[in-house]
Amino acid sequence: MLAGIARRVGACLLGFGLTALAGGALADDVPFAQPNPAPLGASAPASPARLGDMMSVIQTRHSKLWFAGGVRNWPLAAYEMDQLKQSFIDAAMLYGNIPVDAITLATRPLDAINEAVKARDLARFSDGFRKLTAGCNSCHAAGGVGFISIRSPTASPFSNQTFEPAGK
Ligand code: HEC
Repeated sequence: MLAGIARRVGACLLGFGLTALAGGALADDVPFAQPNPAPLGASAPASPARLGDMMSVIQTRHSKLWFAGGVRNWPLAAYEMDQLKQSFIDAAMLYGNIPVDAITLATRPLDAINEAVKARDLARFSDGFRKLTAGCNSCHAAGGVGFISIRSPTASPFSNQTFEPAGK
């Protein structure tokens, strides 16, 4: 019994230590990052994709979208935009605590970007991208992770991918 208590206290301290080490929000503290409970009768997936991990993919696509649009590679921009939309849908399905408004704020600019891509209009693309980025940040603020601040990328970290349209 004593050993059990010691183990529990130890676990508590370990948990506290980790939180203190992180010095900020861990997934457990982020209300939006609580996965949906399993439906009655179904077992929860062994390890649902973590919201922070899905966000890292979203960050990649946000960046690629910018570099594709910036050099008027419209087919690639359309592709990345679609991937981004899909990632947001996946996140919204897995993490039902995320308010619908917060998702809409981020996905509505994707429709504007889609129109801009179809019209091959760089100015409208840039405007849509700016609104998309504002949508990222407003959800981060609402979700208690406002310190994760997104902006338009300044240099591509993807030296293994060409963004220029084919033939250039
Ligand atoms: C609907 C809400 C919401 C939207 C929209 C959103 N995020 Fe997030 N994001 C979060 C939350 C909540 C976290 C913290 C997740 C956690 O800690 O588990 C997060 C975390 C992140 C992280 C940190 C991941 C890491 O491991 O470093 C990045 C980067 C990120 N988001 C990028 C973006 C980008 C880029 C966009 C817009 C294209 C975006 N997010 C839009 C809610 C959102």
